[in-house]
Amino acid sequence: MSPIEPSNSYKQKTENKIIETRPKLESKSKLKAENLNQAENQAEITLRPNSLDEYIGQERLKKILMIGISAALKRGDSSSMGHILLYGPPGLGKTTCAFLLSKLIGSQAHVFSAPSLDKPKDIVGVLMSLQKDDILFIDEIHRLNKITEELLYPPMEDYCLDLSSGNGASTRITRLPLPKFILVGATTKLGNISAPLRDRFTHIQKMEFYQEADLITIANRTAKILNFDLSPKASQMIASRSRGTPRITNRLCRLVRDFSAHKNTNLASPEVVEEAFTLFQIDECGLENTDREILKTLIENYNGGPAGLETLAATIGEDARTLEDFYEPFLMQLGFLERTSKGRKATTKAYQYLGYS
Ligand code: ADE
Repeated sequence: MSPIEPSNSYKQKTENKIIETRPKLESKSKLKAENLNQAENQAEITLRPNSLDEYIGQERLKKILMIGISAALKRGDSSSMGHILLYGPPGLGKTTCAFLLSKLIGSQAHVFSAPSLDKPKDIVGVLMSLQKDDILFIDEIHRLNKITEELLYPPMEDYCLDLSSGNGASTRITRLPLPKFILVGATTKLGNISAPLRDRFTHIQKMEFYQEADLITIANRTAKILNFDLSPKASQMIASRSRGTPRITNRLCRLVRDFSAHKNTNLASPEVVEEAFTLFQIDECGLENTDREILKTLIENYNGGPAGLETLAATIGEDARTLEDFYEPFLMQLGFLERTSKGRKATTKAYQYLGYS
């Protein structure tokens, strides 16, 4: 028997059309972030667009994917569109893209997060369960360990799996053919992807923050699905506080829906939305308490910075990865925070925004 045996647990799950596996939890602080992600993830699935036509925004990416897929379909070989690497901040719709691709092709999407594939047998089990033209989506692909990453190279390149058995001089490699599949990798950190892995992707595409007009359309669509009414001004208020991110639009819509229900109305008026945002401490730019705390800590404890990421995270009691992946990109986009070689710095704009000058 090969030392790399496929994991059985995965096979049992393949009855479902769509399989999502979340990462294992590693520390207490990560636990908080991951639990939040799981709950939000479930709510997100019901709001997910069902076709590329329903998918709002990311026009350039949609065009590139449509060209790639229609050319591959003309050749009668969907997987010939090649593997796809999507990068950018969280919540912009990378997983959704993978689902929509599988729908277009008429295949299954198998969704994993890299930390859940930490043993060689995990990835072997997943690869061996794939059918022709399936989409294998690996979120946080920059977190794959080296062994798992290298196991992926032959499947990505030649659609075969090299299994080794024996030790030392008697090591034998058995090559197993696999069905052709499309790997969609997602990352918030393109720079952390090794060159050999990166070079095996045909498409490397950035997901952009969304424009306010697109987020208004998404808010209106979400309100319809969640069965409540948003006045035009109320959808604009939600969109402008969404940090360019549809996942946040959807979360704010759920908060506003609940707040409206508490007020015994099904119509979220601007007044109701304003009251809700005041209660939830979400300001006009979409900044929440943690964002303001990051900037205030830099200004008050570190004289504006630079302060190292880990130091800053420890001071505010937040997970460094959450700080780096979730909070910082938008603070930088607003021009409130700078990442320098010496650490994080609050900008003059941040001082002004928070009323320090
Ligand atoms: N929900 C989340 N992202 C979306 C998008 N891009 N279009 C429509 N609905 C969405």
